[in-house]
Parts: sequence; C-alpha cells; structure tokens
Amino acid sequence: MGFATQAIHVGQEPDPATGAIIVPIYQTSTFVQEEVGKHKGFEYARTGNPTRAALERNLACLESGRFAFAFASGMAAINAVMSLFKSGDHFVAGHNLYGGTFRLFERVLRDFGLKFSYANTTRLEEVEKAVQPSTRLIFIETPTNPVMEITDIAETARFARQKGLLLAVDNTFMSPYFQRPLELGAHIVVHSTTKYLNGHSDGVGGAVILNDQALAERLKFLQNAAGAILGPFDSWLILRGVKTLAVRMRQHNENGMALAQFLAQHPKVRRVYYPGLPSHPQFELAKRQMGGFGGMISFETGSLENAKAVLKSVRLCSLAESLGGVETLISHPATMTHASVPAEDRARIGITDGLVRISAGIEDVEDLIADLDQALRKI
Ligand SMILES: Cc1ncc(COP(=O)(O)O)c(C=O)c1O
Repeated sequence: MGFATQAIHVGQEPDPATGAIIVPIYQTSTFVQEEVGKHKGFEYARTGNPTRAALERNLACLESGRFAFAFASGMAAINAVMSLFKSGDHFVAGHNLYGGTFRLFERVLRDFGLKFSYANTTRLEEVEKAVQPSTRLIFIETPTNPVMEITDIAETARFARQKGLLLAVDNTFMSPYFQRPLELGAHIVVHSTTKYLNGHSDGVGGAVILNDQALAERLKFLQNAAGAILGPFDSWLILRGVKTLAVRMRQHNENGMALAQFLAQHPKVRRVYYPGLPSHPQFELAKRQMGGFGGMISFETGSLENAKAVLKSVRLCSLAESLGGVETLISHPATMTHASVPAEDRARIGITDGLVRISAGIEDVEDLIADLDQALRKI
C-alpha cells in the first residue's frame, strides 16, 4: 500500500463492537476483566488503551518500523529514549538541537550521570572525534532547527553500526512522508507529534518508533513504569491529523518552496536557509535523502530591530512558537525556541538576533507572500 493509504487505514479498522469507521476515543481508565487473568487485551489505561494502540500501529507503519510508543509530548518521548541508558553512558548529539532537547540533556539528564558531547553531525569526522569508549548513542535532528543543516542519515547509521552505537533521529521536521530514517539504517525515530503528524496545532504529543525487539520491550516497560503516556483524546486527534499528512505535506512543501524563492530574491533579506534552494550547501544530499524539502524556512534580516519590525508587522502569519500546523507561524529563534541555548552557542551555530523562522502553512501562498512583502517594507 502507498503512504497515503497506510496513513488512512493502518490501525484504523472499523470498530468491531459498532462498525464505527473512526477509531473511538476510549476515554476510560480501566477495563473490566471476565475473570482473574482473562481480559480482552487491555487492563489499565496507562499500560494500554485501544485508541493509543491504534495510533501506535499507524505510526509504526508510516515510519517503516515494527513498534511505536506514544507519549505525552515530544520531550517525554525523548526522555523515554534516554531512560534506556544508565549513569556513565555518553552520547554524541547534534550541535544544533531543538532548545528543549538541549535543555533536557544539559539541565536534567546530566544530573543523573548521563554525559553529552555536541558535534556538527553534518561532518562525520566530527562525530567520530566526539565518540568515547562509553558512547552509546548518536542523537541527531535533520534538517536542524532553525538553520536547516542536513546530516547524512545513511552514512551516520553505517558509522554507528560499525562502532556498535545506536542512532536516534528526531524526524519532527520532515515527518515520515518526506523522510524515513529507519529505512536508512537508524535504530530509533522520535517525533514531536505536536507538529506535522497532528498538523492542526491542537494537541501536544510525542512518539518513538523502532525495530529492535529488545529495545522495544524495554521502552514499553518504561512507558508504563514512568507513565508519560499520551491520552486517548490526543491519540485520536493525531490519528485524525495523520489521515491528511500526505496532502498537507505536499502543500507545506509547495508553499515552503515558493516562500523561500520569494525571500531569496528580496532585497531586504540577506540570507535564506531552505534545503530546497540550490544555494543550500547540502542541496544534493537533501534531494537524495528527503522526498521533499518541507515547510520550514529561516531568513536573515540583519539585526534584532529588523527582525522585530517584521515580526510586529505580519498580519496573516502568526507570531508563535511551534510549527507544522495548517496555519503559517513566524518566530524569532534567539528569544523564543532557542532562548535556553547559551548566547555563545547560538552565535556559533548561526542563530543570530536577526534570524526569523517561518513554518509555512497550507494557506494560499499568494496571501503569505503579500503578507511577508508588506512586513519586510517596515525594515
Ligand atoms: C525538533 C523538535 N523535537 C522535539 C520537540 C519537543 O516536542 P514537544 O513540544 O511536543 O514536547 C520540538 C518542539 O518544538 C521540536 O521542534
């Protein structure tokens, strides 16, 4: 079956009790058992819930994985992955992770004895240099947020396997429609389902998808033991959102490309970061690794004043954190999503005070271009 068919049908057979075509929201905390030890597969809703189970089956299929686990947020999903490890274990992470992931690593997990090194994972030799005898996992995002650096997943996965390490990829920016890291050799995929998978900016959630049975069993244990599960209503919202993932992603991609091209020729814009532009340093890799370029674009306005002028003047684009919804969002990474990254690290990565990020929605792109054009005139 093709991707769009899988998105609509896998895990979503008509309800056996009523024939309902949509998986019901099983809003229940427990399940009545026929006799001790005899039940219909569900006992207590932290351990398992049919709505969440339907979503987990669906996401596993879309990411070409065998197992998926849904969590209360993307951060809860990443925290669960890191709970697979022990004090003293070392990790090589991308130097331009989502600020919240960096904060989890540095301000929570470091206190539990987990150790982190950060590397520019677009260069394998830098990853290799960062590896230590106690390294267990490489954790990457590609493209990165907000400067759109691309790491070669297949090459990094080959390296990880040679060294006996695991590779985890945060696939939030691309969604499985455009990029499937497990097919390229990664061991673990994480998502903030809050973004493209849900797609409608109306729920927070996260997921982990993987193939290895032993790791999956441990993660299932952790999901139940630590308990940061996704509730049934949020699971249902994502199931509903995923049904239109293919058409939404195609439109995000089309609008993203049009906005990037508009910004690239605009005299007030000094630089555009979008993997679909031939000027992107990893354009060839992006074409090879991704089925599309997505809807995330960043651009350089030159100063904090210029960025503020644009952000204050937009009328259709909404000034807000987050991304991946049907409506276009615009944000200021230095003071919003990446405020928890120290200023010197931001500067090193290229997150300047003049950088503005857009999550292109699926509105009529002429309206978005007109809005940005009038806002850029305020510089
Ligand atoms: C790439 C990426 N990973 C993880 C997260 C965290 O997800 P959540 O906000 O659902 O906890 C985000 C949130 O913005 C993100 O952009």
